[in-house]
Parts: sequence; structure tokens; C-alpha cells
Amino acid sequence: MASMDFLSNPCLFTAFSAILTVIIVLVLSRKLNKRQRKKYPPIGGTIFNQLLNFNRLHHYMTELAGKYRTYRLLSPFGKEIYTADPANVEYILKTNFENYGKGSYNYHKLKDFLGDGIFAVDGEKWREQRKISSYEFSTKNLRDFSTRIFRKNAAKLANIVSEAATSNQKLEIQDLFMKSTLDSIFQVAFGTELDSMCESNEEGKIFADAFDTSSSSTLLRYVDVFWKIKKFLNIGSEATLRDNTKILNEFVFKLINTRVQQIQIPQDNSARKRGDILSRFIQANEFDPIYLRDIILNFIIAGKDTTAATLSWFVYMLCKYPAVQEKAAKEVQEAIKAKEISSCAEFVSSVTDEALEKMNYLHAAITETLRLYPAVPVDAKACFSDDTLPDGYSVNKGDTVAYQPYAMGRMKFIWGEDAEEFKPERWLDENGNFRQESPFKFTAFQAGPRICLGREFAYRQMKIFSAVLLGCFKFKMNEKKPVNYKTMINLHIDGGLEVRAFHRNGK
Ligand code: HEM
Repeated sequence: MASMDFLSNPCLFTAFSAILTVIIVLVLSRKLNKRQRKKYPPIGGTIFNQLLNFNRLHHYMTELAGKYRTYRLLSPFGKEIYTADPANVEYILKTNFENYGKGSYNYHKLKDFLGDGIFAVDGEKWREQRKISSYEFSTKNLRDFSTRIFRKNAAKLANIVSEAATSNQKLEIQDLFMKSTLDSIFQVAFGTELDSMCESNEEGKIFADAFDTSSSSTLLRYVDVFWKIKKFLNIGSEATLRDNTKILNEFVFKLINTRVQQIQIPQDNSARKRGDILSRFIQANEFDPIYLRDIILNFIIAGKDTTAATLSWFVYMLCKYPAVQEKAAKEVQEAIKAKEISSCAEFVSSVTDEALEKMNYLHAAITETLRLYPAVPVDAKACFSDDTLPDGYSVNKGDTVAYQPYAMGRMKFIWGEDAEEFKPERWLDENGNFRQESPFKFTAFQAGPRICLGREFAYRQMKIFSAVLLGCFKFKMNEKKPVNYKTMINLHIDGGLEVRAFHRNGK
């Protein structure tokens, strides 16, 4: 009956009501304040501005990053946040890594081409592949095998360039780099020669075409809102994607099955000693052909266009800055102790690991190229739960949060007043040794637990190729042809790069 007493006592009742009201008001106002206190990044524009600026997208986004550092673009499909702030980059790529990933948005678009490969997945699926792949990439076996392939392909490339130089023909060097890096990564991945450079292998050409077509049809899904309907009806780009992934799968499954059989023959020791990625995975007791396909194709997509595009921008920079070209060539010649080069083949064999180690200026010039022309110019992550970035801006579950290597490479607040200038020296210490920068400022290879797994592999290939090319040739470009990027996932030179090569030894 105590409650009745309480209700019948007006003083107690009034006091109780007053306390309750104060508590409710306090709780509500706290909630309201909290919501008001949430600060979202300033609006830089809308995705329609991105469409209007499509051909100069990275210029547009660099202008916005210079103005806001972190901003958002309005879109009917959800909030898109872009940041060029190294503290935010560190936070999304490392400190709160678990809260940002590929998400289902990317997974469903990439699935038909990349399957459950390392590029498309998060969580346990990613962790497991990352662990095995990191181990394999650090082995001496894979390193030695890949170096041999890089040297062989550098020699092939030099032969093609040499013929063009002798006959005074122009070269489209980006296309050559695309073919040579595909040949390298394909042989490192599958242990078989594709030879797209010389087009000696018909099947190889079919694979290369199917690979590129599948890649561009997958990319279309990011701009084509009707892709799911097209896929259901099997029409247009989706029919193309289906046909081409079928060709890819047949080709790849054949290679996988043959290798599994070879490795399972107990007396075949040579198969078990193979250094290619496929053989390494099979020997680690991985026999599921779909899993193997996914892993290997992801390596091919990771290693092909990125390296080729970087080499192309590098040659562009060398042509624009002849003094840098000469300085790098001199360093190469000193490092391999070459006085008189009699042939490119001889030159290639002198590009040893020890010689590469000495090429600090070359390393710096390639890195400076990647700062200004990063192969992955923007990289978007899905945000998995509401969060606040280090600069105080809020992001919500389902938002896209992107860091921007292209824009970041040009920010004065990161690199100083000369940010837009090409200066390899900024990467060297007072003794001329290469000096690393924080990966949260220099983001070309991403950073944190998902930092590019092929960084060392890529540098080794790029240094071998460029040491051979610079040691044997001088390059000049067609000054009249404007050079710009093509807006796509990787930063390619639109229409390729036309150059002329001249023998350094005068032959
Ligand atoms: C100049 C050359 C390269 C650049 C600039 C580059 C850059 C990148 C970037 C930005 C990412 C993050 C992409 C993402 O968000 O998923 C990445 C991831 C990756 N890269 Fe590279 N890459 C290069 C070459 C290579 C090569 C040659 C390989 C392998 C042979 C490779 C293997 C990978 C792998 C496996 C991942 C996924 C890592 C993970 O998710 O854990 N990359 N790379």
C-alpha cells in the first residue's frame, strides 16, 4: 500500500514528478547535444560534379583536397567521404583497421572476376590468404625465380627497343610495359611462359585479351547502375564479362589441374622444386582449384597494370627531365661497373642484386614518380560502424571513406611548397641513401595491415627494367602529343606514351 500512500501524498508526488522531469530533460538534452555535436566533413560538391569533371577527375579532387583536406560529396547512393589528411589515413588503414574494408558493396561487384581472392574479401578469408601469401612472397625461392624472369623479360624488352632505335621507329612504350609485366607476373604465378610481348603463343593472347576485357567490364559495374539487370538478362557488358571469365577459367583450370597432377607424382622432384606461386600453394596442401584460381588471378591483377603504368609515367618523367634521365643512367652504369656495353644481353646479366642495391637515385626517381602518379589514385573503403576520424569529423555506417594517393602526393601541407615538382632528391639523405617516408603520407602502396604485398617485388622488377633500358638507351618523347591520365581504377596514360629510343653506345 506504500504506492497508494505515495500517490495520496501531494508533496511527495510533486517532488517525485519534478525529479523525474529533470532526469528526462537531462537525458534528452544530452542525446540532442551529442547529435548536434556530431560534425560532418564539409560538402565539397556532388557526384554530378565528379561526372562533369570526369576527364580531369584527379585534378578536381586535388583542388578539393587542397581546400578542405577532408570533405564529402553528396550522392543519392550514400555518403562519400574523401580525405588527404595523414592522421585520418593512419586511423582508417591501421588504428581502426577492423572498421574499414572492402564491404559487400565491392565484394559483389568484384566477385565474378576476382572470386574470393585477397582483393575482394575482408575478415577471416582475407587474413588466411594474407598470411600464406606474405610467407610465400618472403621466400628466397620465389625471389630468385622472379628475378630470373624479370631479367629475361628485360632482355626481351631491350631487344624490341633496340630494333626500334636502329630503324628510327617510334614506340608506344606503355603497351610494351603492359605486355612485359603481364608476361612476368604470369610466369611467376603459373610457372608457364605467356609471351604476350612477342605474341608467339596464341592461347596466351586469348588469355591476355580475356583478362583485360573482364577487368574493364568489372570496372563498368562501378558506373553502370543497371549492371545487375544486365547480368540477370545476360546482355551487353555483363554478357561480355560472362563470356570472358569463362575463357579465363578454362585456361586457368587447365594449368592448375596439370600442375596438381605433376606435383602429386611422387618421383617428380623437379615439379616440387618449382618456384612459381601456384606450385608453392599446391605444396602447402592447397588443392581446391577455385581457391587456387582466385588467389592467382588476384596476383595477376595486382601486379600487371600497376607496375606497367608506373614504368610508363617514369619514362614520361625522364623525358620531361633529361637531367634526371642522365643522372639515373650514370648511376646505373657506375653501379654495374660497365665501361663499354657491347650488347643489351651482356648488360642485363650485370644487373645483379648487389648492383640494384646501389641504385639509390633510381629508387628515388621511381618513388618520386609514384608520389605524383600513383598507380592507384583513389582507394575507397566501406565504413562498418559509426565512427569519428582524428580530425573530429563523423562518419556513419555504410559511408564510403576514401584516401587519395594522387591528391596527397600534391599537397603542400604534406610535401612543402615544391610539392608539385618532380624532385627525386627529396627521397635521399645527406649521404645519397634512400630515405623512407611515412606510408600514411606516401600512400601509393596503401599502408597498415593491408599494405601492398608486392611492393618489394614491384620495385625489383621496375628497377631491373629501368636499369636495363636506361643503361642501353636514351629516350625522347613526342613533345607535341599531350600526356594525360585516363580516368579509371589504375592511373594509365591516356592513349599510351609515344617515345623514340637512341642507343647509348652509338650503335
Ligand atoms: C607499382 C606497383 C604497385 C603499386 C603502386 C601497388 C599498390 C597497391 C595498393 C594501393 C594496394 C591496395 C589496394 C586495395 O585497396 O585493395 C595494393 C594491394 C595489393 N598489392 Fe600491390 N601494388 C603494386 C604492385 C604489386 C605487385 C607487383 C604485386 C604482386 C605481385 C602486388 C600485390 C598486391 C596484393 C596481393 C595486394 C592486396 C593486399 C591485401 O589486401 O592484403 N602489388 N597494392
